[in-house]
Amino acid sequence: MGMNEPVPGLAAGAVEGPWYHPTGNEVALFEQCHARGLAVMLKGPTGCGKTRFVEHMAWKLGRPLITVPCHDDLAASDLIGRFLIQHDGTVWQDGPLTRAVREGAICYLDEVVEARQDTVVVLHALTDHRRILPIDKTGEVLQAAPGFQLVISYNPGYQRMLKDLKPSTRQRFVAMDLDFPPPELEARIVQHESGVDQAAANGLVSLAERIRQLRDRGLAEVPSTRLLIAAGTLMASGIPLREACYAAIVSPLSDESSMVDALRDLVDATFV
Ligand SMILES: Nc1ncnc2c1ncn2[C@@H]1O[C@H](COP(=O)(O)OP(=O)(O)OP(=O)(O)O)[C@@H](O)[C@H]1O
Ligand SMILES: [Mg+2]
Repeated sequence: MGMNEPVPGLAAGAVEGPWYHPTGNEVALFEQCHARGLAVMLKGPTGCGKTRFVEHMAWKLGRPLITVPCHDDLAASDLIGRFLIQHDGTVWQDGPLTRAVREGAICYLDEVVEARQDTVVVLHALTDHRRILPIDKTGEVLQAAPGFQLVISYNPGYQRMLKDLKPSTRQRFVAMDLDFPPPELEARIVQHESGVDQAAANGLVSLAERIRQLRDRGLAEVPSTRLLIAAGTLMASGIPLREACYAAIVSPLSDESSMVDALRDLVDATFV
C-alpha cells in the first residue's frame, strides 16, 4: 500500500485509531522525530488536520496523548502543577506537562504562541539533550520517560506570529507544514468524515477552491476542511445542498452583506 493510500476500513474510533490520510511524508517524518526525541511544531491553518494528525500518530506509536489548549493567561504552574490545600495539609498535584513527562506521553500544546513567554520557557530543558523538567516548587528534577515527546501547534496568520516566539524556543522544534490537501484528497477526506456522496464531496471541494481564491480580496479567513465536513454532514443528513453550504460555510466565514452575497453566488453556481 502506497504512502497516500488510506488504510482500508479504518474509521475514527478508539479501537481502530483516529483515521488520518497523509498529504505528504508527515507520518515518516513524525515517526523519526519521535524515535529520536525531537520536539515537533505543526504549522497550518485552522481545520487542516493538525489535531487529527497528532491523535493518529499517538495511536500509531502507542503513546498516551495529553493535550493542553494554550491561552494568554496560561501560567507555568498550569503546565507543571501546584500544591492543593486540603483539610489535612497540602498535596502536590501534577500538571499535564508533568504527567506527560512521567508517563512518557505525547504532550500536545495547542496554539502555543498564545501562551506567555515565561510559561513557554519551562519547555526549554525538555526540548534539548537534557530532557529534564525541573519542578521548582518541590525541588524535583524529572527525567522525561522514554516516549515523551513535545508537540506544539501554530496557526500562521493569526494575531500572534511565529516571531512572537523567542528564537531560542522556536529553534528547538522540527517544523512540519500541514495545509489543506490537494482537491482529490480533500474530497476523499470530506466523504469519509461526513458520509456525503462523492459528487457532493467534489462539489464542496471545488466550492472551497473558489472561495479560497477570495483570500486577501476582502475575505479574512478561508473555509477549512473542517467547514466542508460540517456542510457534508448536513447534506448527508438530508439538508438541501445549498442550504447546507449557506449554514455551514457562508455564515461562519462572513457577516458582511456584500461578501455573503458573493459567497452565496458561488454556492449557487456550484450546486445548481
Ligand atoms: N488529512 C486528514 N485526514 C483525515 N481527516 C482530516 C484530515 N485533514 C482534516 N481532517 C478532518 O478535518 C477535521 C478538522 O481537523 P483538525 O481538527 O485536526 O484541524 P486543526 O488543524 O487541529 O485545526 P485547529 O487549528 O482549528 O485546531 C478533523 O476532525 C478531520 O475530520
Ligand atoms: Mg486542532
